[in-house]
Formats: sequence, C-alpha cells, structure tokens
Amino acid sequence: MGANELLAELAGIGSTPSGGYSRLAWDPATMQLREWFVGQASALGLEVTEDGNGNQVAWWGHGPDALLVGSHLDSVPDGGPLDGPLGVTSALAAVGQLKAEGWQPTRPIAVANFTDEEGARFGVACLGSRLATGAIATDHALGLKDAAGDTLAEVMAARGRDPRRAGPSAWLADVKYYVELHVEQGRWLAPHHAPVGVASAIWPHGRWRLDFCGQGNHAGATAMVDRYDPMLTYAATVLAARELALDSGHRATIGRVQVEPGSTNSIPSRVTAWLDARAESGPGLENLVAGLIERAQVAARDDGTTVEVRAESITGAVDFDPELRHRLAALLDAPVLPTGAGHDAGILAAKLPTAMLFVRNPTGISHAPQESASTDDIDAGVDALVRVVRELA
Ligand code: GLV
Ligand code: MN
Ligand code: MN
Repeated sequence: MGANELLAELAGIGSTPSGGYSRLAWDPATMQLREWFVGQASALGLEVTEDGNGNQVAWWGHGPDALLVGSHLDSVPDGGPLDGPLGVTSALAAVGQLKAEGWQPTRPIAVANFTDEEGARFGVACLGSRLATGAIATDHALGLKDAAGDTLAEVMAARGRDPRRAGPSAWLADVKYYVELHVEQGRWLAPHHAPVGVASAIWPHGRWRLDFCGQGNHAGATAMVDRYDPMLTYAATVLAARELALDSGHRATIGRVQVEPGSTNSIPSRVTAWLDARAESGPGLENLVAGLIERAQVAARDDGTTVEVRAESITGAVDFDPELRHRLAALLDAPVLPTGAGHDAGILAAKLPTAMLFVRNPTGISHAPQESASTDDIDAGVDALVRVVRELA
C-alpha cells in the first residue's frame, strides 16, 4: 500500500469535530494506532518488537548496523493528520515497495513508531526517544504526571506494560543510521518549488512551567486597588514574551494555561502557564528565557503576586550529521533547510548519524487540523525515502 492509502486507513482514529486529531500517548486512539502498526508491519513480513518505553520497532532482518526509518503516531491536541503519521506510513510504504520489487538490503532495516513524541500528555517532548537514549532519567520520566494526575508508570501499567522495563534501550545499539521523513512545518519548500527537502539543523528549544500566585477574592466586593491578581502578571508576561521574541528574532509561545479556581466571579488565586521558547542558538534561547523571567518578576512585584518558573524540558541545538545530509541532498537533488520544530531524530542525533526529509506543506500550517501535503508530494516523499533506503542499506 502507498502512504496515501495507509494514511486514509488512519483517518477515523482519534479524529476531532474540527477535522483534526487528538492522539495522546497511551490513550485509546494511540492504542488503536499501535495495533494498526503491528498489523501493517506484520503483513509486510516484519518482526514487530516493543521496548520497555513503548517504542515499536518492526525489523526486516536482524543484526548490527541497521538503518532505522520512521517517526511517531501521536499528535498534539487537535493536531493535523501528518505530523508523525506521514513518516511512519512513508516508511512502511517504502519497505513494502522495496520488498515487492524483490530488492535485498545489505543491512537490517527497521521501521519505528516512537512513543509520545509530542509530549502532549506528560509535558516532556520526545519522551520515548529520550528514555531509549538515556537522555532523561528513567525515574524522573516514570514520575511525570498527566492532566489527570496519573504518572507515566501508572499509565503504562494500566496498559499492561511493566514500568520496570523502561529506560535506555538495547536495540538502539544495533542502529547505524536513523532517517525520519516528516511533513514540513513552516513554509519554505513551496516558494522554492521543491516537493522534498533535507534538514540541516533543529533550533534549540524548551518548555517552562510558570506559576503565578495571588490572592483569590470576590470579583464584586474587592476594589480594584485592593487586588493581588495573578491573571494580570500572567497577561503582562504573555505580552513580554511576544515583545522579547520579536526583538530578538526568536520564538516564544504560551499556548496552554490553567486558572484556579476558574470562576467567573472570583479573582483567581493561581494561573499556571506553559512557555514554549525556541531560538537560533543556545545563548539566544537562554537570553530570551532569562529576559522573560525578569519581566515576569517585575510584573509580579507591581501586582503584589509571585511567579515561579521551572524548566520541564530543554533540547540543545541539533546539527544533523553533515556527511549524511550532504549525501542525501546530493542523492535527491533536494534543498537543505533548518527547522524550528523538534523531532525524535534530534534526540537520536546525540547517539548516531541521523537525517530528516521534509515533504512540502503548501500552507506551512502544522499542529492544527489544516496541516496538509498533496497526494503527489506524499508519493514524492516515499520515492525519496525509497532512494535513501537503497543508498544506505
Ligand atoms: C514538536 O513538534 C515540537 O516541535 O514541539
Ligand atoms: Mn513530529
Ligand atoms: Mn509535532
């Protein structure tokens, strides 16, 4: 089956009324997707394994120096159809095509479905690949809580997985290269008239939790001058984030917020917000976040509130293996572009040569239902991946 047909099979799983997808790690939708992956990979004659972190890997052959291809099947809340699934379906389609042609690889080939790439459930992006590579302490990861207050360990146990098996994964020692195909996020390929590009680098990025605390009180009985309202400090911080990011040419987003007690006729006692910040360089990111914390503290003093900031995950700059990316760009005659988005390939890059292929996204929209690629470009992406697999394996 081609990638377009495989994607069509996923259309009903975890879909939302807005036309998008909510597929959070270990939820019913991703459990269904995991079963689908096992079915598709088995039908291709691949041997499907699952490591102690929930990462699924389907093997064509065994032994060292394997070529790993794939991506993830989870999404952000109300995300698009392609961020993740395009890479998994393209990998399955490429393997299916090569097998149908009777081609014989010289090294093992494996297809990955990494768990919880988006970090939408437990707050840490690329949780499956971080655990597999040891980039996050296992105990810390297992203790992360979701919105319902359940820990990763509890959630995995409820899905029949033994959390004691979580942690650095032995199978990664058998992988020589990882190539992840992904829908483009941002709009660079369309104006360059290219259906497929090769990644150069990932911007350093991270997530911070900001807790603004004040005094809950009555909305009608409390004079404006007598308030300690954390919503004001939060609002000033959102505006400062935009200003500092604009001034520095970097990116800052507050896309998630919780208000306590969340009552129309009460001044809130606490506002919790999550900052996503990204910059071209590590020092750029540090300056952006330090500047924002300072602005939040000044606003808190003015408002008689407090602010506490805690980093939840930070990913340094990733420069994809120069030799591999030049080789693939030459092979495909494809342009090379950087990305502001994070990926499992960025985590694996610390351990082995990794590369990424991007498939043109006509609007550039991602993490939203409107994320798209044309069926022709999806086919072009699979063709490119087939050529890459032939080249490297
Ligand atoms: C993942 O898509 C991220 O960049 O947050
Ligand atoms: Mn992705
Ligand atoms: Mn994403």
